Parts: sequence; structure tokens; C-alpha cells
Amino acid sequence: MASLLSVSLTSASPSPSASLSTQESHKGKLKLRNSGLSFTNEKINPFANEKSSGRISMVAAVNASRFDGIAMAPPDPILGVSEAFKADTSELKLNLGVGAYRTEELQPYVLNVVKKVENLMLERGENKEYLPIEGLAAFNKVTAELLFGADNPVIKEQKVATVQGLSGTGSLRLAAALIERYFPEAKVLISSPTWGNHKNIFNDARVPWSEYRYYDPKTVGLDFEGMIADIKAAPEGSFVLLHGCAHNPTGIDPIPEQWEKIADLIQEKNHIPFFDVAYQGFASGSLDADAASVRLFAARGMELFVAQSYSKNLGLYSERIGAMNVVCTSAGAAARVKSQLKRIARPMYSNPPIHGARIVANVVGDPALFNEWKAEMEMMAGRIKNVRQKLYDSLCAKDKSGKDWSFILEQIGMFSFTGLNQTQSENMTNKWHVYMTKDGRISLAGLSLAKCEYLADAIIDSFHNVS
Ligand SMILES: Cc1ncc(COP(=O)(O)O)c(C=O)c1O
Repeated sequence: MASLLSVSLTSASPSPSASLSTQESHKGKLKLRNSGLSFTNEKINPFANEKSSGRISMVAAVNASRFDGIAMAPPDPILGVSEAFKADTSELKLNLGVGAYRTEELQPYVLNVVKKVENLMLERGENKEYLPIEGLAAFNKVTAELLFGADNPVIKEQKVATVQGLSGTGSLRLAAALIERYFPEAKVLISSPTWGNHKNIFNDARVPWSEYRYYDPKTVGLDFEGMIADIKAAPEGSFVLLHGCAHNPTGIDPIPEQWEKIADLIQEKNHIPFFDVAYQGFASGSLDADAASVRLFAARGMELFVAQSYSKNLGLYSERIGAMNVVCTSAGAAARVKSQLKRIARPMYSNPPIHGARIVANVVGDPALFNEWKAEMEMMAGRIKNVRQKLYDSLCAKDKSGKDWSFILEQIGMFSFTGLNQTQSENMTNKWHVYMTKDGRISLAGLSLAKCEYLADAIIDSFHNVS
């Protein structure tokens, strides 16, 4: 319905404060009353400083939407790559953007053990009743045991608060809300670079964060000195976000001696370690080896946060299954923390979905199925290692410049940081139809042995011929 509006609103404001004063000075003319949007508290509105659609000047009868003041959001830098890939009609195209496992034929893969368990679940005719807020008890038990080891004292002494979360992302978001509520003075330190969604999660939860150095472009390796210096310089009691294994996007992990030094420093500074474990078992092929960093910190009696995801290691991407674990120094503290995590979850999504939780509980809880899973995980991790090796061999064979490509072999997990800059990464896409994030990250899980030589050609061309 056409409505008569008299609006004079500058909505493209480069700075939040400018935007606020403009709106204040136009009080009375701003007719967004029923939009449900509040522009009154700029400091806590994470969207308030987004560039909007430009100067709106309507002094006429128009088909106005009350949502006209909402600007188009930018595409997600990772998921947007898949959209662009779909639109490309070239036969050469290769999607190395999103971190999802593909077969050698570059097809999505559903684990056999998952299919088996799903059939069992169907036969049993299980119901779809609501889960409790904290999720499926059998899942929560096995997920904490998988992470810490069933015999770990933190488990035996009930010092872990575990709640089922909406995969890794949802679990991180729950923890961020807990930090916002109970540690309002604390900030979170995140690695530079890190998985793109970390910043979104803490921004949306209104938790301040800053970065610690992690990646050294000169060596395409870990900037350990920088990392230590930045963690040391942070205010006491900060949360330090660490990737448990297979750092995303770099594929570069600290070695065991470095983990010890990181733990020493975090203890010394009274920081709280916050592990993001999205790749347990998927990095090395061993669930235990990939949990070594978390277990090292737990063995020191430290309190810590751990977010878990089953997207990659069980291929349950869209089932949204994961968990948030908080290790406390007493069972009483763990019980209280768990009650507060539930309190946060209740108004957000009430209770989590059951399907993925049952899959994990059944697979991990049954020794035969558990072994089948481990074998399939080794197979997936092995295929990724094979393409990593073949890519390295192809780069060495084809590149006559003498450049040392060995950093590729030193990285672990599904990602490789190629060292290509944004323009070079764009050349990969525009000229070679290789879709990847603009930070130079490629997902080796989306690569086949057959495509390694083509990819090597694309990387060599982009590296040497594009500045
Ligand atoms: C480092 C890291 N954390 C968390 C996640 C969360 O993924 P999901 O929400 O699918 O479990 C990912 C996925 O790519 C990741 O790479």
C-alpha cells in the first residue's frame, strides 16, 4: 500500500557517531517507527556502522518499505565462494573454498558408518520428542570422553560442564554469550589470521577481541615469537582462542614443545584457554593425537573452554552437531556453569536437534562402529595427505624458479595456506577457475589427485606472474 512519507535521512554514514548525530538532528522527520529497528544505542549495535544504501530523500507518495533503511549485507567470504563456483560454467572449475570433504571424484561423501547407524535408528523407530536444553545425555557423555579420554580425572571427577551445541559455530556462540555475561571486562585473543566466523561470533555476542600474531608470511610458518609476545602483553585473565589442531586457515600448528610454552605462559598470565576443536581425528587420522593440545592443558589442572564440532570428522555438516565443554576446578563450579549455559541456550533455540546427537552417541558408544569410524576417518585424512604430497611434487617438478614449496608439506589438516596474496588469489579464480578464499587458503579436501598438476600450474602462474 502506498504511504505518504516525509523522510529525510542520511543512512550512508561512514562513522557510527556521525550517523547518530544525523539521526538525532532529524528527530521528528525519521518515520521508521514501526520498523522494529533501534538506532538509539550505537555502541552496542554491531550493524549500526555498516554502510547503508545512500541518502534517502522521499517527500512523495511512494511504495515505501519499512525495511528500506536496511542495507544489503555483504556475501560471506567463505560461503560466497561456493555461490560464485556454481555460477561458473567452465569444465575446468575447481572449488577449493569451503572446507568440506570430497571423494577422489570430487563428490560429497556420507560415511558408511553414518549410513549404517541411520538405518539402525530407523529400524528402532525412535521418537522425535524434545531433548533437554543441554542435549542428549548419551551424546554429552561420549563427546567429553572422546575429547579428554574416558579415564581423564576431569571426567571422573565431574569437572566438565558439557552441553550439546549447534555444531562448532553454535557452541562457540554459547561460550561467547557466557563470556559476555560473566566476564564483562575480559577480551578474547584470536589468532591472526583465523577462521572468518570467529570475529562474527564475538562481534555478535558483543565480546571485545584483539588479535595475536600467528602467521609469518616470510616463512609461511608459525610466528611463535610474535604469538608469545602478544599473549604475554594481553591483560591478565584474557581468553585465548586456540585451534586444537589443524589451524584454519593456515594449516600450521605449534609443535608439542611450543604447546608447552603456550600453556606455561597462559598459566602465568591467568588467562583462560579457549580451544576450538573442529577437526579432531581429521588432521592426523588419530582422535587421540589431535586432542593432545587440549589434554596437555587439562592435565595441568587448568580451567578451559573447548568447543567441538562433528561436521568434518563424521561428515555431519548439516546436522549441526557439536558441544561446548567447560573444564572447571570443581564439580560444583561445573554444575553451575552448565546451568548457566542452559539458561543462555533456552531463549536462543530452546533445545538442540536429536538426529546428529544420536548418530554420534551410537557410533562412539559401540566398539565395532567406533572402529569403523576410525578407519574411515583415517581414509579421509589419508586422501588429503596424498593430494598434499602430489601437489607439492607437482609444484617442485613444474616450477623452475628454485622456490622452496616445502611449507606445504609442513601444514596439516584439510587446508593449505599457499602464501598467495589477494590479487594472486583472484588470478587463480578469474584466469584458472580455481575458487578459493582471497587470503590464499585452499581446501585440499576439495582436490583430487587428477587435478593436482592443473592446480600447480595455476599456483605457479599466479605466484610468478601476478604481483
Ligand atoms: C576453526 C573452525 N571452527 C569451527 C568451525 C565450525 O564449523 P561447524 O559450525 O560446521 O561445526 C569450523 C568450520 O569450518 C572451523 O574451521
